[in-house]
Amino acid sequence: MRYGGAQQLKIAAAERACDFISNGMRLGIGTGSTAEEFIRRLSVRVMRGLAIVGVPTSKRSAALCCELGVPVAAIDEISELDLTIDGADEIGPGLTLIKGGGGALLYEKIIASSSKDMLVIADYGKVVEILGAFPLPIEVNTFGFKVTKRTVEKVADTLGLTGTINLRMEDDIPFLTDGGHFILDASFGCIADPQELSNSLLAIPGVVEHGLFLQLASRAVIACESDVKIMDAKSLPERWLCCSKQHDFQIL
Ligand code: A5P
Repeated sequence: MRYGGAQQLKIAAAERACDFISNGMRLGIGTGSTAEEFIRRLSVRVMRGLAIVGVPTSKRSAALCCELGVPVAAIDEISELDLTIDGADEIGPGLTLIKGGGGALLYEKIIASSSKDMLVIADYGKVVEILGAFPLPIEVNTFGFKVTKRTVEKVADTLGLTGTINLRMEDDIPFLTDGGHFILDASFGCIADPQELSNSLLAIPGVVEHGLFLQLASRAVIACESDVKIMDAKSLPERWLCCSKQHDFQIL
């Protein structure tokens, strides 16, 4: 089967992700256009009798689940989730991720962290050799956000990371997350040491969370134009490059 077009690739990844779900699972449900395709396919299986309970990572995903009849629960009603299925903005070596393009990074990270496993769903265009071309979303408290922004800039500078850091806007006003925070989008271009950046950002008062997801995802469903492949965190960087450029990488 040959897939074409961005939407078709998202659908293909979402469809394949359903193979990882089994009856009785407590499922973290992601946010974004790929995750929405997943919710649509999940709802079909629920209609056919699949028994799962979903914990959505945003109001937007919760609304779609409710509309399509996917049973949902709040995160605090469930002690541990079996699996979270979510999209990503960038997928780097070792399944390091940048997430938060849709603004749901805080809830996404809380839910992924309380899951036994995280499965990423994406098209091959999200796979990169080094994270950072996609601006890194940093969720900050609204109180003193300009001070926090200046501190983030200083910390980035000490790490040798340059590039603009912008307050995310929507309809001419600052974008507000489901948690009531602002987002700074940091265009670093190339993040050589994601762990060091993660540690440094989390040490800044006012930074609530950031969109680097490290050691959280164990597998990824990557839709290519020719087929859909499953990758794990051990895949070598060269393989990842092959993935995005030649669509020819290891099938697990
Ligand atoms: C939402 O906050 C993000 O983390 C999304 O998972 C990410 O932006 C991927 O979205 P798409 O599937 O729409 O590309």
